[in-house]
Amino acid sequence: MAQEVLKTHDLEFCGRPSFLAQKKISYNRVAIAFSPCNDSWKAIKKICVTHFLSSSNVSRFSSIRQFEVNQMIKEISIQASNNNKSVTNLDDAILSLTNTIISRIAFGRSYKYDKRLLGLLNESQGLLGAFFVSDYVPFMGWIDKLRGMHSLLERNFKKLDAFLQEIVNQHLDHPERQKSEEEEEDNVIDVLLKLKINKEQSFPFDLTYEHIKAVLVDILIGGTYSSAATSTWAMAKLLKSPKTMMKVQAEVRNFFGRKGFVDEEEIKNNNDLPYLKAVIKETLRLQPPLPLLLTRETNEACKLGEYEIEANTLVYVNAWAIQRDPEIWKNPEEFYPERFFESSIDFKGQDFELTPFGSGRRVCPGLNMGVATVEIIVANLLFWFDWEVPIGMEDLDNNEIKPGIVHSKKNPLILRAKNYYHI
Ligand code: HEM
Repeated sequence: MAQEVLKTHDLEFCGRPSFLAQKKISYNRVAIAFSPCNDSWKAIKKICVTHFLSSSNVSRFSSIRQFEVNQMIKEISIQASNNNKSVTNLDDAILSLTNTIISRIAFGRSYKYDKRLLGLLNESQGLLGAFFVSDYVPFMGWIDKLRGMHSLLERNFKKLDAFLQEIVNQHLDHPERQKSEEEEEDNVIDVLLKLKINKEQSFPFDLTYEHIKAVLVDILIGGTYSSAATSTWAMAKLLKSPKTMMKVQAEVRNFFGRKGFVDEEEIKNNNDLPYLKAVIKETLRLQPPLPLLLTRETNEACKLGEYEIEANTLVYVNAWAIQRDPEIWKNPEEFYPERFFESSIDFKGQDFELTPFGSGRRVCPGLNMGVATVEIIVANLLFWFDWEVPIGMEDLDNNEIKPGIVHSKKNPLILRAKNYYHI
């Protein structure tokens, strides 16, 4: 059935519903994730893939990932040196890291010490996943107003928009704007502004500031939360499976030990580090950060098996259930990365048993960037430190999730790191 929706009838099933929060936060659905399947969605998705998200572009940003991950490792190492007195909140550390990486890619600079951006995005991603009565029973939308949801949404959007507009203004070629030395060339804003100013010919429309800010929201939210959630889940799963932790740590340390650091360029080679890659795949099987993908809607009436499906029908693909289906997976609830050594199933959207990134026209365009980010984070955490769960915090609470569009672990992963190498 998933294959029917994601492949055979992809054209009919590739719409997105116009949900209240998604419509607001995506500037009336003009970028990628929450837009209908139209020419402007196609053109903008293509630009993002061509300029930032294709596998060759992902390598372009590897120095950013490498630098920022090193910063996080240094901070954890300082906590680890404090005679077993300090613990590390890995959720906070990883979320701040993925947000810093994607901000540098999007804006050319980091907002690590300006907590406004992450605070606003946290609120937005919470609202994107929140239940609005009016999305399902429009005439009862007054309940959302009564619950204060409308004003929350309005307030969040207003602040986010002002923040993004401020950054766009800084990037416009004002004579007074001084490009700081550490600012990256070819960041998302500068590229989009160039396309706007040069009136890109291949576009079916004029690119507006709304389009640019909406793309930034997609990239910031897409790039911050799913990679962070996957990295944290991977560490939580490994802490619950000490034997697997030992094996994957041995693999990473043997591989990079002589070099003395984790080199992203070397992780990329498909045949290297099979255990690490299987751990990440198994994490995405058990804990896909978007368990129902993003909600779809039929563009037109169609037939699915024996069923007649009307136009504008909401469609939820339950990747979470498929990825734990006992008819497909042996001992599906078990965290067992070795299962991928004997299987060619991959998560790139061709195998419908495992679709944490979706598939078809709506497949996640950030797949390569997401995987590269998770790999370098998890490999570094395993290389540099041994990990312990502090006494009293043994309940890693593996399956409870935080509210939000991305399913992250509910309780923060608080751990004690022990330096394995000296940095
Ligand atoms: C581990 C990391 C990630 C996972 C598991 C993930 C997962 C997904 C999933 C399941 C979808 C919906 C697909 C569908 O509806 O069929 C999606 C869409 C999307 N993702 Fe990701 N994602 C990740 C990283 C990223 C990154 C790094 C970015 C950008 C920087 C990104 C940007 C997007 C965008 C823009 C869409 C909307 C695509 C469309 O509607 O056409 N994602 N992602």
